[in-house]
Amino acid sequence: MDGALERRIRSRLAALESSGLARSLAPPRGIDLSSNDYLGLAHHPRLKKRFAAAIEELGVGSTASRLLRGHRAAFRRVEERFARWKETASALYFSTGWAANLGLLTTFPEEGDLVFSDALNHASIIDGIRLSKARCVVFPHADSAALERLLVRESCAGRRFVVTESLFGMDGDRAPLADYARLRAAHDFSLIVDEAHAVGVFGARGSGLLQESGCSDSVFLSVNTAGKALGVAGAFVCGPAWATDYLIQTARPFIFSTAPPPAAAEAIDEALDLVAEEPDLRHRVRSLARRLRERLDMPPDDAPIVPIVLGGNAAAVEAAARLQRAGYDVRAIRPPTVPAGTARLRISLNARLTAAEVDRFASILQKELSGVAACAASS
Ligand SMILES: Cc1ncc(COP(=O)(O)O)c(C=O)c1O
Repeated sequence: MDGALERRIRSRLAALESSGLARSLAPPRGIDLSSNDYLGLAHHPRLKKRFAAAIEELGVGSTASRLLRGHRAAFRRVEERFARWKETASALYFSTGWAANLGLLTTFPEEGDLVFSDALNHASIIDGIRLSKARCVVFPHADSAALERLLVRESCAGRRFVVTESLFGMDGDRAPLADYARLRAAHDFSLIVDEAHAVGVFGARGSGLLQESGCSDSVFLSVNTAGKALGVAGAFVCGPAWATDYLIQTARPFIFSTAPPPAAAEAIDEALDLVAEEPDLRHRVRSLARRLRERLDMPPDDAPIVPIVLGGNAAAVEAAARLQRAGYDVRAIRPPTVPAGTARLRISLNARLTAAEVDRFASILQKELSGVAACAASS
């Protein structure tokens, strides 16, 4: 009965395979150079202990959505703490960063509104905007001059929004947040910043690039994931209380989804303690990132995401396979995660690595990349 559908899907799968775009599921293997566990908290004994104790007390599942029986005091406590940390009036915890972006982008931008979105924004931002009824204008990546030209040219009957990541997840570069803050004063829009890869890593208190760049006051909402540097799961939307109050009423991924396990809120609370008590973790991962770039003759930077852009899909897959054989968990990143022709290795660092491991990896990476280039030249 489903024969025609099966033939269609099999031809799609074959096309992905032949263009080097087929993906597969593989568990962690070798030294971690691909996760987003930047501070190494996912295996931290204190987080494990707190998580286990919370399960004993609160059970495993939350059993319902927050608006029904799934709400717990632990969620409220960690939201209040997170808001203080981000210096906002309020925070609301979603089960994933994906759900947070979908929730807020289908709530605030309405029909008649206009959203300016960075060309390299994450898929969850793209999909959230697509699902909203607002018109979208994509601006060139991190280009504030181009954004300003578009702000002058493109108007709408309703409200205008600018949406960007602060640290870009596949490129490790930063949005010019101070420029956007200045543009906002001149051109009136609401600024939404996704701090998924910056939270825990940047800022004097570790709360992200908004704090580090001193632009917090210019932002309407920020999205802060807890499944990356904080080592747990979920994400906090931070902003004014009227905005989070409205999300509770309208954000469909929040309303129509079972709340995360309550123990996650307790574990995040512990992660926030560790971020406060051990600033060395973030200093360490940033210094390892600086070191790796230096060893690879790349421009200096301390972002823990180091992209090695190879271009072709097959070259990225081959390079990742070579590094995996050498004992490193490095993955190939291909379209549609990154634009066509920019397939890459996305090297991500974490505070559990040592300087010697980073040095050794840098020399093996250089050797394996020259092997991939030699293969490509001879084929
Ligand atoms: C910029 C950005 N926003 C949101 C997300 C989604 O977060 P989560 O993995 O918690 O769903 C990601 C995930 O990689 C991301 O890179």
